[in-house]
Amino acid sequence: MHTRDLIDLAELKPSELQDILRFTGFIAQNPQYYRGNAEHKIMATLFYEPSTRTQMSFQAAMLRLGGRLIGFDDPDNSSVAKGESLKDTVRVISNYADVLVIRSPLEGAALAASLYSRCPVINAGDGGHLHPTQTLTDLATLDNAVGRLDHLTVGLCGDNLNGRTVHSLVKTLSRYAGNHFVMISTPELALPGYLLDEITRGGSTYARAETLEEAIPALDVLYMTRIQKERFASVDEYERLKDVFVLDRAKLKHAKSALRILHPLPRVNEIAVDVDDDPRATYFAQTEYGLYARMALLQRVLEHTDRAVPTAPADTHKARCTNERCVTSKEHYLPRLFKETDAGLVCRYCEQLSMNNGQ
Ligand code: NCD
Repeated sequence: MHTRDLIDLAELKPSELQDILRFTGFIAQNPQYYRGNAEHKIMATLFYEPSTRTQMSFQAAMLRLGGRLIGFDDPDNSSVAKGESLKDTVRVISNYADVLVIRSPLEGAALAASLYSRCPVINAGDGGHLHPTQTLTDLATLDNAVGRLDHLTVGLCGDNLNGRTVHSLVKTLSRYAGNHFVMISTPELALPGYLLDEITRGGSTYARAETLEEAIPALDVLYMTRIQKERFASVDEYERLKDVFVLDRAKLKHAKSALRILHPLPRVNEIAVDVDDDPRATYFAQTEYGLYARMALLQRVLEHTDRAVPTAPADTHKARCTNERCVTSKEHYLPRLFKETDAGLVCRYCEQLSMNNGQ
């Protein structure tokens, strides 16, 4: 990998993405072959948000490679509870570890961490923004189950607004030729505009569907997601939207026999339990690929052994990001990093258009 960190899969060249997926496939065939490859290496997990699969699959991946683990999954038990900044936590823990895996409720937190870390940083989910290692998992699963990542009709059903797994998946699948997305969500939970632009810029296409029944016959892949309760300001709003789309056996009657149903999990109500026994249900097999994909990724990032303290970049603009979920809204020392687009200044941490271009 030419980049030290994995913050967003968009930073990888197509050949690097292909290499990780191919490597994941090799490991899936023969996981024990790689068991000494991270011997004497230490992975630190900094989990500021709940996680089961992502944290455990990272831990299992590192242990299977012969490495060791440190970290926290309850920030209340770390110095964060004493008011320590992300910068200081990262600067310190990166003295002890060879790779940091970070999950945070703040958008752009992994990028922020990478500015101060002496070792590679992997984004294990930054708020409602991105979740690149889930996408590696999803792509490895599809590679195995369908045999291709292009010319697919992919239904995205559930919380397309707040679902970081959906965002990373859309960004990455749009890089492959001929993919078509069908958005199945309520208007309130529609995919952010910048990602719709990403789809068309990459030459892919999209359509919207009001119901699962209407969308399902054309799909090769159905990617279901949970409504992301923790991102809602109002419980009533969550209650109103939570069970609008539920996949059950009856709805699958008109689906292709080769359909693949994916879900990053955890599931709440959006897939009825009776779907689990349908041969098209791929979400439990998907979790196994999460292990192999992370074994592949860890080996690639651990090839970077330079431990220099990075020099944080200078402000690119004077503007402030106006997204209150952005890491810059809490960690005020962070350099102000923006890119200029036709629509205005876009924050590099959270990718939101800044509403305040003021000096
Ligand atoms: C997802 C996440 O954390 O974004 N879970 C996961 O990592 N497998 C999906 C979710 O929480 O709904």
